[in-house]
Amino acid sequence: MLNPPTGPTNPANPRTPSILDQCPTLIQPFTSITERLKLENFFANPQPLEIELGAGDGSFMVRYATQHPERNFLAVERLLGRLRKLDRKGRRAALVNVGLLRIEAAYFVEYLLPARCAQTLHIYFPDPWPKKKHRKHRLINARFPEIARQALAPGGVVYLRTDDADYFEQVQEVFAAAAGHFAAIETPAELSAVVTDFEREFNAQGIPTRRAAYQLK
Ligand SMILES: C[S@@+](CC[C@H](N)C(=O)[O-])C[C@H]1O[C@@H](n2cnc3c(N)ncnc32)[C@H](O)[C@@H]1O
Repeated sequence: MLNPPTGPTNPANPRTPSILDQCPTLIQPFTSITERLKLENFFANPQPLEIELGAGDGSFMVRYATQHPERNFLAVERLLGRLRKLDRKGRRAALVNVGLLRIEAAYFVEYLLPARCAQTLHIYFPDPWPKKKHRKHRLINARFPEIARQALAPGGVVYLRTDDADYFEQVQEVFAAAAGHFAAIETPAELSAVVTDFEREFNAQGIPTRRAAYQLK
């Protein structure tokens, strides 16, 4: 269940409570890091689930979840500072369809997500690991399509964006090798229009967004 509201103030140092004091944190504690999540405990309404991996400060998540109250969202991010910023944005927007999780994304998808639970995986500007010897750290690697396949509901989609040409090539290669299970599709304009924090910065520097989307057959 959602966490209780955070206390407003230290009584010795009173101040006017803000909206953040009224809203419980969206950051969800893990009761186990080996058992799969009980997603029914996360959201008030059972609705289709979308997941963002490496959500950063979460401007995408907050905007997209605001546009889609008929869906539930989980944002996964390993840096606590970024997750806290996302938490503040989500609470200011009074979002009740978003949960935030601090954990490593690949482990989360492979070991903690229940099978076939997600309609969508959003992966935007994953860390590029540009040095050849570090490429094994990339989130989208040869194993990823299989891991994603287990987490996605029938007809589910992986949406990807990157600024990095080499990473984009790798994305296309690994999904081409999984063409028996995934078909390349277009990203809907409505989704492309929701620009992420990093995307805005890259585009401002003249670096284009490379997009791909793969739907489970
Ligand atoms: C370049 S930022 C992009 C953030 C956001 N998606 C955007 O487009 O604005 C990549 C984010 O993914 C997070 N990240 C990288 N690898 C991760 C992993 N294996 N598990 C969870 N988060 C990860 C980083 O901490 C960072 O916040």
